[in-house]
Amino acid sequence: MKKTCLFTLLLFSVLGFSQQKTIDQRVEALLKQMTLEEKIGQLNQYTGDNQATGPITINPNKEAEIKGGLIGSMLNVIGTNHTRQYQELTMQSRLKIPLLFGQDVIHGYKTTFPIPLAEAASWDLDAIALGARIAAVEASASGIHWTFAPMVDIARDPRWGRVMEGAGEDTYLGSKIAYARVKGFQGNLGDVNSVMACVKHFVGYGAAVGGRDYNSVDMSDRMLWETYLPPFKAALDAGAATFMNSFNDLNGVPATGNKFLQRDILKGKWNFQGFVVSDWGSIGEMVNHGNVKDTKEAAQLAITAGSDMDMESNAYRYNLAQLVQEGKVDVALIDDAVKRILHKKFELGLFEDPYKYANLKREAKELNNPLHRKIARDMAAKSIVLLKNEKQILPLSKELKKIAFIGPLVKEHKQNMGFWAVELPEIDYEKHVVSQWEGLQNKVGKNTQLLYAKGCEIEGNSKEGFAEAVAVANQADVVIVSIGERGNMSGEAKSRSNIHIPGVQEELVQALQATGKPVVVLINAGRPLIFNQTADTAPAILYTWWLGTEAGNAIADVLFGDYNPSGKLPMTFPREEGQLPIYYNHFNTGRPAPNENATNYVSAYTDLKNSPKFPFGYGLSYTTFDYGDLKLSKNRIDNSETIDISFRLTNSGKYAGDEVVQLYLRDKVGSVVRPIIELKDFQKIHLDAGETKMIQFSIDKEKLSFYNQQLEWGTEPGDFDLMIGSSSSDIRLRSTFELIK
Ligand code: BGC
Repeated sequence: MKKTCLFTLLLFSVLGFSQQKTIDQRVEALLKQMTLEEKIGQLNQYTGDNQATGPITINPNKEAEIKGGLIGSMLNVIGTNHTRQYQELTMQSRLKIPLLFGQDVIHGYKTTFPIPLAEAASWDLDAIALGARIAAVEASASGIHWTFAPMVDIARDPRWGRVMEGAGEDTYLGSKIAYARVKGFQGNLGDVNSVMACVKHFVGYGAAVGGRDYNSVDMSDRMLWETYLPPFKAALDAGAATFMNSFNDLNGVPATGNKFLQRDILKGKWNFQGFVVSDWGSIGEMVNHGNVKDTKEAAQLAITAGSDMDMESNAYRYNLAQLVQEGKVDVALIDDAVKRILHKKFELGLFEDPYKYANLKREAKELNNPLHRKIARDMAAKSIVLLKNEKQILPLSKELKKIAFIGPLVKEHKQNMGFWAVELPEIDYEKHVVSQWEGLQNKVGKNTQLLYAKGCEIEGNSKEGFAEAVAVANQADVVIVSIGERGNMSGEAKSRSNIHIPGVQEELVQALQATGKPVVVLINAGRPLIFNQTADTAPAILYTWWLGTEAGNAIADVLFGDYNPSGKLPMTFPREEGQLPIYYNHFNTGRPAPNENATNYVSAYTDLKNSPKFPFGYGLSYTTFDYGDLKLSKNRIDNSETIDISFRLTNSGKYAGDEVVQLYLRDKVGSVVRPIIELKDFQKIHLDAGETKMIQFSIDKEKLSFYNQQLEWGTEPGDFDLMIGSSSSDIRLRSTFELIK
């Protein structure tokens, strides 16, 4: 390293250190001035007057409490004017400690991006980080300091409605996305256009028994460390400022009162310096769990276990002081929590200017920034997954004379936002969201006529609209039919035991196909749905999830080939609910089924195949990719060595396109059983038609390590299968190598 470079590095670390010291000193100085009541106030978070995101159980006089310095943070307060009003109240308190404004900015603020699960389908980490960045720019301009995102819960059961909010089932992909999202939200924390991330829900929430929200979680420590914790660690490595704990109990201990999770792992082993906020009311809810007898005991357990801030259960506000007086809670625990919170307020620059983020001019500019919509449109197109395209029906020609666009979701606006979109009071959804119908109108020229029929509702049995839909289809050259869930059928508290496409929508598809016209099906959903009949018979299917404000335009971009679909499924799609939970990286078992039809004394269902309907990592393109010439620099390495892998990827079709090349490994023999296949790396590669690129990966000991029976992370010598492919079940290149001691 050059001398000047070294000097600059040194200077920066000295500067960084002294700044850090200054904040620490300021925190200590402020803490000394605080009464116990004021300290407890900092740990107290209330919802504001915008749409509540949980059951409101308390209704204190917020104004008086803020003026008394008894509230440290608020959520659900939207907009510059509004946040400023509350901040002005705090400035009337004795110590003038600014409020933190938190909000679920999950997939965009005003410009709504695709739901997180859809974004995960892009496998495009830069684009995902950019989406989070735009959300931060808009939210911060509105006075928000803190987003309750990303949700990094691994989810293997689509009955759980919150699968829409995460990155799917895979730990490796989920960890990469967790890292990207934190970086995107936080940028340079303290800059006026950044927000703090809150990594949630710590931990295990995605493994709720039966996919029922808020349900118990029971898992081995090995499963916890290997599958569920890594995305949280990745988010922490990206610098995540805060964590949120979760509603579930884990192996009998509610996460909110779980010392092992919060003190031993997060703040201990991982040395997390930020603060932990409870989930909505989750401290008080421990009374329902039954591990404490009342809210007072809940408060004692939560603060001892490392929950720093109490979201909306008022357990700290009304119990901590007494618990300190009775000697049941050491004030040092409270001081530690307060310091963590104050530190972040200093880091954000709120003591210099409590209104730093609330700026009407910036708000007006950023919330209406056309560039944001353009970026959201790109992200939306990248999130769409092409599931089927027989006879190359897609992309559609722009010369078509008549297109029938049919289905209950065609003309919807707000539905496209999906769950967890920020409800800005002034939004007129008809104007704000590009419906699928409008997207198509924007795309086609004057010579193309668009015909519409609703066909049926999303739910219900009525087929009254079928005849009209069929008549419309009969007049058209091509039929596009848009079906699926309603936007709010997936999300928090939206678990479903039946995840088949609801109502008579699949029958509508059948009726339209009976016309003999080419039919393209769009499926809109916040989770993997089941649609076997459509999957087996429709010639072309695009899985469009919920794509946000630019949904219609993005769908039209893909339908007409202005964007060649490149999405890959981040979750396995089941054949039936009976397979759930289902995931690609399972163990072999002692009696693996030799083929799909075998049922006799093998690990299989007697009435259903084991294989999924669509596998993890699956997604087609309008072009084709050819893989070849796999080379490994070595076939035998020790722990200190690396294998360089290269192969050829050729775009062998007619369109430019992107391929997500996926590298999987199988550790053939381990002291604990290893998955039959595991994603260990991927790249998204753009190739023009006919173009070839050599792709490189490398494998080192990190990729070969796992937790052994003693939960030590490391390698074991032995043979590995290397698989490179276009999905977890479309492996194009194979090799083997050996790890020696
Ligand atoms: C959810 C969290 C969310 C919080 C605040 C809870 O119900 O589980 O994910 O951040 O509400 O809205």
